[in-house]
Amino acid sequence: MKRIAVYPGTFDPVTNGHLDLAERGRRHFDRLIIAILRNEDKQPLFTVDERVEMLREAVAPWGNVEVDSFDGLLVDYAKRMKAGVILRGIRAVTDFEYEMQMAMMNRRLAPDLETVFFLPSEEYSFVSSRLVREVASLGGSVDELVPPTVARALAARFRLTGPERDTTRS
Ligand code: PNS
Repeated sequence: MKRIAVYPGTFDPVTNGHLDLAERGRRHFDRLIIAILRNEDKQPLFTVDERVEMLREAVAPWGNVEVDSFDGLLVDYAKRMKAGVILRGIRAVTDFEYEMQMAMMNRRLAPDLETVFFLPSEEYSFVSSRLVREVASLGGSVDELVPPTVARALAARFRLTGPERDTTRS
């Protein structure tokens, strides 16, 4: 039996913290599916297609990692993909409450699906997509926090739109 895990998120954009977690995840599962939520309400900076492309490029060297997008309930998507595990990262205790609520709700919806939490490297414990967007939008360097393609995409996006404050979450 193959051990399949889904690593869901918004990934707007993917950061080195996400990649650190995926790298850890791929060592523990036969197949790791990074699944981007298609959610129009969040008004993302990058379209789902752009996020899929940036993630695919970043995980290209890893044979057992793939990138997909989904809508609807995560548990339904995980079942369709025949995954037994949902993988999420916890950076600090502040992430815990939100993560636990989601994990418990998902368990209520699908008792056979297990949520597993990994800790990213402490180097990335402060990195979030929201802060990366904010720093990039104000002209700061995020070169060490995101893959090079993402840094270029952020620079291009904010050159086009001009510096602005980012108020969306995560
Ligand atoms: O990166 P994020 O924004 O913290 O990821 C949140 C995500 C995508 C994991 C969560 O919003 C989700 O799973 N949404 C899908 C809808 C769903 O299943 N909702 C009930 C789960 S509690």
